[in-house]
Amino acid sequence: MTRALVFDSGVGGLSVLDAMLDTDRDWRIDYLADTAWLPYGEKADADLVARVPALIEAVAAEWAPEVVVIACNTASTIALDAVRARLPVPVVGVVPPIKPAAAASVSGVIGVLATPATVQRPYTDDLIARFAAGCTVIRVGTTVLVAQAEAKARGQAVDLAAVRAAIAPLFEGEAGARLDVVALACTHFPLLRDELIAAAPRAVTWLDSGAAVARRAADVAHAPEGAPRVRRIGLTAPGGFRELAPALSARGFDAFAAVRDRPPFDLDVWRSQSPA
Ligand code: DGL
Repeated sequence: MTRALVFDSGVGGLSVLDAMLDTDRDWRIDYLADTAWLPYGEKADADLVARVPALIEAVAAEWAPEVVVIACNTASTIALDAVRARLPVPVVGVVPPIKPAAAASVSGVIGVLATPATVQRPYTDDLIARFAAGCTVIRVGTTVLVAQAEAKARGQAVDLAAVRAAIAPLFEGEAGARLDVVALACTHFPLLRDELIAAAPRAVTWLDSGAAVARRAADVAHAPEGAPRVRRIGLTAPGGFRELAPALSARGFDAFAAVRDRPPFDLDVWRSQSPA
């Protein structure tokens, strides 16, 4: 049995958690969502670098994971090294799937769909220079899809027109007409896979990093074979718990923690069932 802590700003990391649950590894997974600060894609880099390592460190001190998965591109591309420096266990980040997107493209035109923060980061520039130098890369940054994924997880209807408008720039112009693969570089977006397919003007391949991150986490943590399951969830804005409860209990969460939303990020009393 290997204890893992999966972290995201909101529900996006559940796409990575789902990939971990799809493996035959004996995970016991706790999940931490910084819902008080959502969306990360609109926050200043310096603020995220100051907050994310301290938050993860405080919760990891309580829950003692053997591996931490930063299931958030916006945090990984800026704060991965800082988190690693503070924790005594392996930390796995999400990497925008630019390399597999370039490899899968036949036309040589790929899209990178991410938050406004991730899409313009040096980390993303570097991945494109190393792995997609021969491609035309259309970058689109949006927080609309983050909000839509959050709404979907709360059982609300997804606004397909908003999804269509958000992804329209991928398909514009001469290059857009040839685009055939899109790298989903925000963990919220795979939660909208059906809506992305429905909203796209034509069929393209939508790639995400969930399975690769799950494999990497299993490797670095030497997670043994077995049946994975989830345990606790901690939220920095616990007031939103009730709306999320169906999506969370469907994944098997059975305990809830309120994490104070500022340093020292201590955990309030946590319960073995949903708060009333
Ligand atoms: N899920 C996150 C990511 O992968 C961030 C969404 C947000 O908070 O803006 O980038």
